[in-house]
Amino acid sequence: MHRLEKIISDFNLKIDDVKNKEVLEELRIEYLGKKGLVTELFVNLKNLAAEEKKSFGANLNITKEQITKKISDKKEQFLMLELNQKLAAEKIDVTIPARKQDFGLIHPISKVIKEVREILSDLGFEMAMGPEIEDDFHNFSALNMPKNHPARQMQDTFYLPNDRLLRTHTSTVQIRKMLGSKPPLKIAAIGRVFRRDSDQTHTPMFHQIEGLMVDKDVNMGHLKWCLEQFLMRFFAVTNLELRFRPSFFPFTEPSAEVDIGYSLNEGRIKIGSNQKFMEILGCGMIHKNVLQNCNIDSNCYQGFAFGIGIERLAMLKYGINDLRMFFENDLRFLNYYGFKINEF
Ligand code: PHE
Repeated sequence: MHRLEKIISDFNLKIDDVKNKEVLEELRIEYLGKKGLVTELFVNLKNLAAEEKKSFGANLNITKEQITKKISDKKEQFLMLELNQKLAAEKIDVTIPARKQDFGLIHPISKVIKEVREILSDLGFEMAMGPEIEDDFHNFSALNMPKNHPARQMQDTFYLPNDRLLRTHTSTVQIRKMLGSKPPLKIAAIGRVFRRDSDQTHTPMFHQIEGLMVDKDVNMGHLKWCLEQFLMRFFAVTNLELRFRPSFFPFTEPSAEVDIGYSLNEGRIKIGSNQKFMEILGCGMIHKNVLQNCNIDSNCYQGFAFGIGIERLAMLKYGINDLRMFFENDLRFLNYYGFKINEF
């Protein structure tokens, strides 16, 4: 009995000094391991007389339980301590202000394309697309510009091998649409076009919108109304005057160039007010040869077409005066003229 008390009191002293899990484990082995002090006493039980065996055995069990419990309590303490240290180390201060995030801006050309698409869709035009790499037929001959036609010189073309070329205008989509579907047709095509040109008002790549309507009773009045609606909505003005000036395109007859009214306010162009006029687009009634080239009976059907430069629309709406800036990717330009996602 005396021995057991000594074991317990020694153990209590030692466990108070234990500073970590590893030392605790050593202590456990010292007392409860295979050759531990307590384990050995169990082995020795068999040498005791029956009477003594009973009472000593009972006390030995109690001693073992006490030691086991103290060790597991201590172990628990170490685990809690570790957990608390971990939590403290990983603590996040949710009150710190968030880091500023920079979002990219929407390019003014993308913005204009989206607006134009919305307005033309509201006016009943279906959006159409065509390839940027085209052939002579869709870009020229079907549009009433046979080989050697002088109008081909109006457009400086990028030619590719195998009779391919980069389309010089979106009028190619007219041809594809008229060949591919039957009238009535009311389509708009927006996309990139390419010409060998570069100065303040020309870039080798730019964007056009093409509008086309073919039906049995289409006249220039319809064309005029559509353009008025489109331009007034695009420039967000109600007092816009349009001027139709006779012009020439091989694929329209009659053809017109359209001017819009504007005023100058301290050097800045303001669309509307109609003191001066400037050209904004080309249009006309589809030439009967073009209808025939697309297997449409020109005695039965007529149509109108118009073509507008997207960059020109963007320059006028946002007061940008050098076309080349659109494509230089200068961050100062993009930050100034770009649109936030939520304004898009
Ligand atoms: N395709 C012409 C151009 O690029 C524009 C246009 C389209 C004119 C449709 C009339 C009708 O210059």
